[in-house]
Amino acid sequence: MVSDSGQRTGDGDGTATVDVGGGESSERERRRNVEELPLPPYPPNLGPPQLHFLRQMRDPFGFIERAAERQDVIRVRMPSQGDIYGLGHPDHVKRVLLTEREKFRKSEDFRIAFGEGLLTVEGDEWQQQRDVLQPLFTRESVMGYADGMVDQIRRRTQRWQDGEQLVLQQAFRDMALDVLFATVLGRELELDGDERIREAAESLNEWFRPTSYVLPQWLPTPARWRFKRGKKRIRAEADRLLAERSGDTPTDPTEADDLLSLLVGLREAGVTDSAMLSDERLRDQMVTIIFAGHDTSATTLTFAFWALANNPDVRERFHAEVDALDGPPTVDDVAALDVTERVVTETLRLFPPVYMLPRETTTDVAFDGYRIPEDEVVNLAIREIQRDERFFDDPETFRPSRWDGDLRGELPDFAYAPFGGGPRICIGREFALLEAQLVLATIGREYDLYWLGENEDGEPPVDPQITTRMPEGEEFLVTER
Ligand code: HEM
Repeated sequence: MVSDSGQRTGDGDGTATVDVGGGESSERERRRNVEELPLPPYPPNLGPPQLHFLRQMRDPFGFIERAAERQDVIRVRMPSQGDIYGLGHPDHVKRVLLTEREKFRKSEDFRIAFGEGLLTVEGDEWQQQRDVLQPLFTRESVMGYADGMVDQIRRRTQRWQDGEQLVLQQAFRDMALDVLFATVLGRELELDGDERIREAAESLNEWFRPTSYVLPQWLPTPARWRFKRGKKRIRAEADRLLAERSGDTPTDPTEADDLLSLLVGLREAGVTDSAMLSDERLRDQMVTIIFAGHDTSATTLTFAFWALANNPDVRERFHAEVDALDGPPTVDDVAALDVTERVVTETLRLFPPVYMLPRETTTDVAFDGYRIPEDEVVNLAIREIQRDERFFDDPETFRPSRWDGDLRGELPDFAYAPFGGGPRICIGREFALLEAQLVLATIGREYDLYWLGENEDGEPPVDPQITTRMPEGEEFLVTER
């Protein structure tokens, strides 16, 4: 991507929207100026806007790459939705997620899908939910889950056979769901059972099939029907867990170590009197955590093993590190798993599961001298930015050692944002990072996993749904080390 020159006016603290020569112009004056700005042009190398959707369907990442070749603010046409805008510079991400976040809201689509859980609510309600849930997700709290995570991981890996072929995305989805349930949700799933829950969890992604971008919300489609059925099942499971917790919560609810015990405990203790503790909200919260917290992890793990399989030198260093452990990793080993941590960091750079972060504008806003009108969808191009040679050397190469020095400190803010940023940064970040390290170390000590597909361009196959993942059915060979 080459930045367009001259017009960029993003300033360090992000307080000004655009400098159109107004100096100390009043807010009204500035707004009027914004309204006078041109809309971003459709990138000329994408062909006629009527074909944007088809071209994007055929090759989503190539489409975005081409669109962003010459400009950091793009406009593409989507049938039934009108235009959507893409932002491809860390300064833009910073403005949207942090310094000018009041000019953007979460997209309506998420709220329709997930109701009033943490991912979707806004304003005071969001702050209240975040304050209540945050203690469960601090580094210290999630470290308390570490050994339980390893138990869940090993329950599955101990059944793997040398020479077996595994659909890794699916295997990790099952594993991530086991881990999430056994820790945050406080119930151990059956290894060969609980299929209804597993299916239901998987179907939460169905809401975001690409057809959703073209078909109106009210139209029933098979994918939407699967989504609704899945959501209903998870809500029923939430009711079952709620009934189990009622009357059986710790005296001090803040000592609860799972989500529902915490929330039910607060309600029973009368500590927090709020709508967020109603059964309805608790159901929404459970659906939200399951949606946000398992497929993202499964995807990260799948791409991490793909990358290890394709980079023997990295794999060697990774093996040296995990082989030095006395046994399966424990909570005390985590701090020493440096190479493993960097493998995860680099995987999240090259293959961020949330490759695009959507928002909607609440007012006209200006980026690089262009206007994005009120009530429009903007997508933050996280994957593009994390592969941009302006910020990363040799950006397409998987090189965990790039993080050995102080790259994080040297990067512009928001050039690396796989978990989003600002106040709404992923609440599950510490959880996900710990889980990924432990899965890699547990498996890496015992097995090598080799992707069995063809690798023409040095990139894994991807199926960009709401998260980027490997297409269903991609198999890996399990070999004992
Ligand atoms: C590698 C794994 C993960 C990735 C890449 C990831 C990514 C993200 C991103 C990019 C956001 C910001 C969304 C936005 O600003 O619109 C987010 C938010 C969120 N994530 Fe994660 N996530 C991961 C794992 C998890 C886990 C394990 C959980 C729960 C156990 C979780 C729960 C949430 C929740 C509840 C939010 C909303 C936070 C808020 O708005 O306050 N995530 N995640």
